[in-house]
Amino acid sequence: MKTIDSLGDLAGKKVLVRSDLNVPLDGTTITDDGRVRASVPTIQKLLDAGAAVIVTAHLGRPAGAPEAKYSLAPAAARLSELLGKPVTLADDLVGESAAATVAALEPGDVAMLENVRFDARETSKVDADREALAAELAAFADAFVSDGFGVVHRKQASVYDVAKLLPAAAGLLVQKEVESLSKAVTDPERPYAVVLGGSKVSDKLGVIANLLTKADRLLIGGGMVFTFLAAKGYGVGSSLLEEDQIDTVKGYLATAEETGVEIVLPTDIVAATAFAADADAVVVSADEIPADRMGLDIGPESAALFASKIADAKTIVWNGPMGVFEFPAFAEGTKAVAQAMIDSDGFSVVGGGDSAAAVRLLGFDEAAFGHISTGGGASLELLEGKALPGLDVLED
Ligand code: 3PG
Ligand code: MG
Repeated sequence: MKTIDSLGDLAGKKVLVRSDLNVPLDGTTITDDGRVRASVPTIQKLLDAGAAVIVTAHLGRPAGAPEAKYSLAPAAARLSELLGKPVTLADDLVGESAAATVAALEPGDVAMLENVRFDARETSKVDADREALAAELAAFADAFVSDGFGVVHRKQASVYDVAKLLPAAAGLLVQKEVESLSKAVTDPERPYAVVLGGSKVSDKLGVIANLLTKADRLLIGGGMVFTFLAAKGYGVGSSLLEEDQIDTVKGYLATAEETGVEIVLPTDIVAATAFAADADAVVVSADEIPADRMGLDIGPESAALFASKIADAKTIVWNGPMGVFEFPAFAEGTKAVAQAMIDSDGFSVVGGGDSAAAVRLLGFDEAAFGHISTGGGASLELLEGKALPGLDVLED
């Protein structure tokens, strides 16, 4: 992959940087600024090299037109605080405001273009549409740096097409993410344990299929576990269940038997009367979830079991919380997995926006992990062994 150094002397140049600033917001307040912080080293490096930086990024999934609630203003403000200098946010993406903002840039200045998804061409499936937007973006700059790791699995104008029009390179975040995740994907030190959670098994089918040929242990928790428990013939009460995936999951259980991959399921469940922070909750055996209760976390016996399967692993990858960690009563399983990863001597990788946010919101020290990915879908697709368009386009 081409690196920033391959771009040569950047003094006096304008560099377009694609960052992933898709942060969770409560109104206009950023609730987890991990992605903004992760974007700083590349921008700072370019500024130090004497370049002016134009940041392009998306927030949420607006329908191809401006929408105030998806403005990048909160991200621009936070980036400005972190860099300790003004970040001018243009009112539009490639319109008059953007053009004037870019024209005014001096070396060492930073500007941000409004949400790139306010333009429908960004995500268009028609190559010519994306290429037209990419050309307008490219006209602003002398070089392109791709640093939005969370979007490198998207074949979008600001990720893929623009990289073909300018001298292009991977930023420091993309480099670090690819190095860390590749360590786990290509040649993991064994035992290799993967912890999967999150609400839907249907989001993770490709990953599970791939891991059944690669991992030694697959620990399953979160909402998706109830489809596994149902596949084993257990009743799951009113827990999350994807009935149409039960047969697929049965297939995984059979494959795991054949390939010798150990699938570790919870033996107990925290079962609540409702999806609420203060719902009445009891710990029940995983095969005895009452019909009128829903599982919102793995139980304490399972947490200890999972911790023991993580303890002696040499590579551990974790994607997806074990329970509804946003409610303190249902955060214990997720905490136990995080703590076990910290305690283990193995190389620990946290992937997926939710688990990365969980680690921070639950107060764990990020530095205690081998790597915390900023990518959700992108890190999953790497684990799946897929080719990612936003990375392929940066190859030498
Ligand atoms: C993410 O949040 O996973 C990335 O920012 C990509 O966003 P997207 O899934 O809307 O493309
Ligand atoms: Mg996503």
